[in-house]
Amino acid sequence: MWTAITREVSPALAGCELSFVPRNPIDVALARRQHAAYCRALELLGCDVIELPALPDYPDSVFVEDVALVFDHVAIAARPGAESRRGEGDAVHEVLGSLRPLLRIEAPGTLDGGDVLCIGKRVYVGISARSNEAGRAQLRELLAPYGYMVEGVATRECLHLKSAVTEVGVGTLLVNHAWLVDAAPFADYRMIEVDPDEDHAANAVRIGDAILYPDSFPKTLARLHAQGINVTTVDVSELQKAEGAVTCCSLLLRTAVTA
Ligand code: GLY
Repeated sequence: MWTAITREVSPALAGCELSFVPRNPIDVALARRQHAAYCRALELLGCDVIELPALPDYPDSVFVEDVALVFDHVAIAARPGAESRRGEGDAVHEVLGSLRPLLRIEAPGTLDGGDVLCIGKRVYVGISARSNEAGRAQLRELLAPYGYMVEGVATRECLHLKSAVTEVGVGTLLVNHAWLVDAAPFADYRMIEVDPDEDHAANAVRIGDAILYPDSFPKTLARLHAQGINVTTVDVSELQKAEGAVTCCSLLLRTAVTA
C-alpha cells in the first residue's frame, strides 16, 4: 500500500549544507549503515522501498524528501532553496513521473519538500530559509485543481517546517512551538509538545498507523508513548549531524490510489 523512495548516502555527505546546526565530524560508513537500517524499518512498516544509488557529487542527496512532493494524484518537482541541491532530483522525478502526473516549481520560486506538511487536503508550507513566497504561491496554483488548500507558515531557528511540526496520528501533531512564528494555523489539531531538552524532536515519519522516529529523543518518545502512540525507533545520529531528520530520508507515496 505504501512505496518509499530513498537514496543511498553520498560519499560526500560530510560536505553537506548546514544552516542551524554546527559542523561536526560525520562517520559516513556509519551513516550508510544507519540509512540501510532505516530502509529496512520502512519495509517492516509495510513499504516497498525503491532505493536509488548514491550521488557522489551531491552531499545532501540522501535527503530525497526535499526534491519532490507527492500527493495521491499528482507529484511536483520541487526547487530546493540551496543551489548546491538543485541537481539532485532528476532520477527521483523520473521515478515519480512514472507513477503520477509530474508538475514543477519554477524560478524564482524555491521550495524544499521538508517545508511541506500535508494533512488531508490541507497543505502547510514553511516560509523558511529555503522556501519562499513565490514557491508557496506556485504550489497553491498547481494543487488547486486537485482540491488542496495551501497555507504559508513562517518558521524560525530551524531548517524546515517539518523540523518544527509533523503529524503523528489522525488530528495529532508533534510540535516544537519555539520554531513556529505563529502556531495559529494548527489550532484545530491536538498537539503534543516536544520535551524542552529536545528541540529537534518534532520530526516523525507517519506511515498509516505507524510512526518511525529517532531513538535520540527519549523524553519526547515517552510523551508519545504516554499518549498511546506506538513508535518504531531508528538510530540516525550521523544523518542528524548533516541536519537531516527521519522524514528527510524518504518520499512516501500511497500506491493503488483509486479515488
Ligand atoms: N543538510 C541538509 C540541508 O541543508 O539541506
